[in-house]
Amino acid sequence: MESMKLSRLLCRAKLWFSCRSLSSSIARSQRATARKEEFRSRVAAGPHLKDFVNPVPVAPDPSSVEDDDDLPHYITDSPSLIYNKVYFETYGCQMNVNDTEIAWSILQKSGYIRVNSATEADAILLVTCSIREKAEQTIWNRLKQLAFMKQKRGKSQGPLKIGLLGCMAERLKEEILQREKAVDILAGPDAYRDLPRLLSVAESGQQAANVLLSLDETYADVMPVQTSSNSISSFVSIMRGCNNMCTYCIVPFTRGRERSRPVHSILEEVRMLSSQGVKEVTLLGQNVNSYCDTSAVQFPTTETSPLSRGFSTIYKPRQGGLHFVDLLDQVSRIDPEMRIRFTSPHPKDFPDEVLHLIRERHNICKQIHIPAQSGSSRVLEAMRRGYTREAYIDLVQNMREHIPGVSLSSDFITGFCQETEEDHQQTLSLLREVSYNAAFLFAYSMRKKTKAFHRMNDNVPPEVKKRRLEELIAVFREEAEKVNQRAVGSTQLVLVEGVSKRSSSDLCGRNDGNTKVVFHDHSIASNSLENDVRARPGDYVLVKIISSSSQSLRGRFLGLANLQSSPAYS
Ligand code: 5AD
Ligand code: SF4
Repeated sequence: MESMKLSRLLCRAKLWFSCRSLSSSIARSQRATARKEEFRSRVAAGPHLKDFVNPVPVAPDPSSVEDDDDLPHYITDSPSLIYNKVYFETYGCQMNVNDTEIAWSILQKSGYIRVNSATEADAILLVTCSIREKAEQTIWNRLKQLAFMKQKRGKSQGPLKIGLLGCMAERLKEEILQREKAVDILAGPDAYRDLPRLLSVAESGQQAANVLLSLDETYADVMPVQTSSNSISSFVSIMRGCNNMCTYCIVPFTRGRERSRPVHSILEEVRMLSSQGVKEVTLLGQNVNSYCDTSAVQFPTTETSPLSRGFSTIYKPRQGGLHFVDLLDQVSRIDPEMRIRFTSPHPKDFPDEVLHLIRERHNICKQIHIPAQSGSSRVLEAMRRGYTREAYIDLVQNMREHIPGVSLSSDFITGFCQETEEDHQQTLSLLREVSYNAAFLFAYSMRKKTKAFHRMNDNVPPEVKKRRLEELIAVFREEAEKVNQRAVGSTQLVLVEGVSKRSSSDLCGRNDGNTKVVFHDHSIASNSLENDVRARPGDYVLVKIISSSSQSLRGRFLGLANLQSSPAYS
C-alpha cells in the first residue's frame, strides 16, 4: 500500500516537473548560459517529495502576499527575463476568461509583458476547455498552426514557447507533451501561481508541467487584471471546482473539488470594481450557489435547509459557515448602483431565503439560470442530477411565485446515453412549459473518466443527436419569441454597453433579465436638465420596447435613469 502511494506520488512528481532536453541547436548567448546555470541551481534546490504530499500553494493569508519569503523556495517571483512577452488565447466558458485574468495577474507581477498578437509573443498561452470533444478539437487544430509558426520563427526573435493552461492540460496531462511536441508548458487550473517558474523552465529549453489539483486554491489574494475593454461589467470568481459528479461531466476531474473563496476577499474585489466604476458584477463558480465559506464567522442563519425541496446530493450538504445567501446579501449592499448576477448555479441550492433576497434587493437582477439538462426523470437519474422533472418544475413555480417576472435560462444536453424519443419529447415539453428567456443547448459528448464513459452506452447516433438538437433549438426559439413579444409596450431599465454591432447609429445594452436591448443613439430634451441628454456606455437608461425577436428587444430611448429609483420594468 505504502509503496503504491509512493509510486503514485513519484508519478505525480514526474508530471509536476517533467523536463526533457531540447535539441542542442539552440545557440545561446553567454547571458542565457548564465541563466541556465542559475536555473539548474534552482532546480537542484527545487521541490522535494514533501512538496507533493502537501501540495503547494495553500491559499495564503492575503496580508502576506507581498512577502516573497512566503512563496515555496523553488518558485522565484522575479526571474531575470529575456523572453518576456506573453500572449493569451482564451477558449470556453467565463470561468476561463477569469482564469486568464488570474494567470495574467500572476505573470504581470513577475515582470512579464502582455502583447496583443501571437506574432509579437515569446510565449503563447492557451487557456483551454475540455467540456466537449469539439472544444478540445479546436485546441488541437490551433496547436497545429502554432507548431508551424514555431518552426517558421526567425532566429532573431528567439524561440517561441507554447503553453496549455486549464482544463485540457489537466485532463490529458503528459499525453499532450507526447502527442504534441510543440507544447512546452502545461499548467492545470490550480497551478497558475507556478507559471513564472514553468515559463522559466521552458525558456531554458525543457518541457515543464504542473497539473496538481489543490483542495484549497481559490486565488483569493490574486486580484484578476480586467482584460476586457468594457469596464462596465465584470466577473468575480467566488468558488472553484465541483463535487456534484454528474455522470456526463468532466469538470470535477479537471477543476477538482469544490472550494469557496473567503468572503472578505470577494467583498474587497467587488469594492475595488465599484470604485473603478464597474456597474455590473456576475459572481462566478461551477456550482456558484453552493458557496460556503467555512472560515467565516458563522452568522445565525434562518435558512431552513441548504437544499431546495425534492433535491438531493451525492455528498453530505454542509451546515454552518457563510452561505451563498449571506454572500449575495453582503455583495449587493456594497454599491446600490451596481447590478449583481450569478452563474452557474445548480437547482438543488435554491432555498427560499435566496429567492426572498433576490426579490427584495433592488440591485440583484431578477434573472436566474437553472440548468435542467433534461426534461425526463429517467435521464435525469442516469445523469445523477439529484432531482426529478417534477421537483424541477416545482422549483420553477416557486421561483415565479417568489419573484414575479423573473427571467429564467437553462442548459440542456440532448442525446445522452440511452435517451429515447419519449425522453426527448419530455425535454421538448419542459422547454415549452417553462418558456426560458435564454438556453444553452448541447449534443452529448462522451468524456473519458466520467461515470457515463465507464458504465453507460453512448448509443444515440450522431445524426439523431443532431436532429434532436435542432428540434430543441426550434422549440426554444419559438418560446423565447413569445416571451420577448410580451415585453413589447413595457419600459425597461437598460445598462448601456456600447455601440450595437449591427449598426453604428444604435446603442445596445441589457435589461434586468439579461436580454439584449437595442435603441437608436440620439439626444433627447430633458425636463430637469438644461442640456439635451444622450446615453453613453455605463449609463442606466429607460427604454420603451417597440419590437422583439427571439434574441433581442428593440426600443426607444426615454431618458437617463438610476438603479435605485427606477423599477427594472414597468
Ligand atoms: N456533453 C455535452 N454537454 C455537456 N455539458 C457538460 N458536460 C457535457 C457533455 N459531456 C454541458 C451542460 C453544462 C454545460 C456547461 O455544458 O449542459 O451545464
Ligand atoms: Fe458538471 Fe454537474 Fe458540476 Fe455542473 S454541477 S460542473 S454539470 S458536475
